[in-house]
Amino acid sequence: MAILPILQYPDERLHKVAKKVENVDGSIRKLVKDMAETMYTAPGIGLAATQVDRHIRLIVIDVSETHDDLRVFINPELLKTEGKEEHEEGCLSVPGIYEKINRAERVTVRALDENGKEFTLDAEGLLAVCIQHEMDHLLGKVFVEYLSHLKQTRIRAKLKKHRREIL
Ligand code: NI
Repeated sequence: MAILPILQYPDERLHKVAKKVENVDGSIRKLVKDMAETMYTAPGIGLAATQVDRHIRLIVIDVSETHDDLRVFINPELLKTEGKEEHEEGCLSVPGIYEKINRAERVTVRALDENGKEFTLDAEGLLAVCIQHEMDHLLGKVFVEYLSHLKQTRIRAKLKKHRREIL
């Protein structure tokens, strides 16, 4: 297993649109393992392949407190969304920034697991928020892009300053 570098906003590569996974093979399973290790080490609760500069439709999520409930979604599709919820979100590609974002409260998602087996999942709460956040990454969208331009400019300035300080 390996820890992969995570692209940092506003890296342009975070705006690439991910392609469908054609074959769930050994190389995909290896990437799943590396992404899981990267996510747990960060630590974070979700990671999209886009964030590790692999532009395919693959996400890993674990919202459990015990970090033993890894969920893998390959070629995820939202079949249904219901309700509305405001939730404070963060992102491993936008460290230290937390903002309230509107999402659907419940979602039904269909995807393949790491063995290529199709499943359908009804999710709510944090898991539903996380699925929507990670699926946005696959479309090249970072959560701060839901905010006003003024807020986005402030966030970029803050990240730039922070990066200078740690150099
Ligand atoms: Ni994110």
